[in-house]
Amino acid sequence: MDIESNIRLTDEDVDKALKDVTSSKQLQEVKMSFLGKTGRVSELMKHMREVAAEKKREIGQLLNDLRARTEEKFNALNDKLKKKELEERYAAETVDITMPGRKSESGSFHPNTLIRDELVSIFSGMGFEVFEGPEIENEYYNFTALNTPADHPARDMQDTFYLAPGLLLRTQTSAGQIRVMESKKPPIKILSPGKVYRSDDDATHSPMFSQMEGLVVDKGITLCDLKGMLDEFAKRVFGESVKTRLRPSYFPFTEPSVEVDVSCFECGGKGCRLCKGTGWIEVLGAGMVNRRVLEGCGIDPDVYSGFAFGMGIERIAMLKYGINNMKLLFEGDVRFLKQFKD
Ligand code: PHE
Repeated sequence: MDIESNIRLTDEDVDKALKDVTSSKQLQEVKMSFLGKTGRVSELMKHMREVAAEKKREIGQLLNDLRARTEEKFNALNDKLKKKELEERYAAETVDITMPGRKSESGSFHPNTLIRDELVSIFSGMGFEVFEGPEIENEYYNFTALNTPADHPARDMQDTFYLAPGLLLRTQTSAGQIRVMESKKPPIKILSPGKVYRSDDDATHSPMFSQMEGLVVDKGITLCDLKGMLDEFAKRVFGESVKTRLRPSYFPFTEPSVEVDVSCFECGGKGCRLCKGTGWIEVLGAGMVNRRVLEGCGIDPDVYSGFAFGMGIERIAMLKYGINNMKLLFEGDVRFLKQFKD
């Protein structure tokens, strides 16, 4: 077949091949079979060598035209197919905004976590740093260094869980006070949240519960500093109108020792069920760090003084959220827990 007929035939074959093309991917394959390195049009070009010299110009022109025409046909169809495919894709991805949404369930924090985080946030705003001591303690940190006599009833097997002679589950986060004072020079300002354990079990007591301890040691710290700080704490946790009062108490590691009450935030102090008619609610224990405790930690009590306080996190949670049974805080019932959101 001469080259001119071949060019005509190729033209027709291109049209035929394009008729059946339905996708841009398929088009690409067909394109290669005509315009690729070994495609029909390219093969024809290779025959130029055999063309007689006087016809070279004419045939060359015909071949170039064929090539240009073929490319144009492919480009035109490619544009059309691409547009169609894009429209199809958009149609498939259309979102029906009138459909009802899918609700994603969000969890909530445990009341203990909420209170602990709130307390940490309040006290760290006052410059306290968090220190977490170990839950397994020895008698020295939990009792002896806290000036608790060897025959003190709190040390009894009935109150304390002993793991081995001299080794126990801490009964108070106060144990951490000693660890801090042993390892740090004043000024000291720490907050120590954590779990504690006591052999106790009723509606307001649990064998495991959580405490938040605070300790401040520096030159010239007085009971007034403690009172001022507690006033601020009580307002932040229970409300602006809440007042605090100190009652004398006893802890071996503080002298003087106090119990701290807040005016009843439920009745405003008139007397109600929550405050058992007294107008006041006990929230924590505190006091000035006993000289003997400071001395035992190598801190000179004639130069430094300090205060400490400790509160039950569950107790604060129960008061603040009106929870009447401590067991609810340990059962993990989601219907109860999901009621507490920030
Ligand atoms: N550790 C005491 C308790 O568990 C509370 C307390 C802490 C009292 C710090 C005074 C100072 O009851």
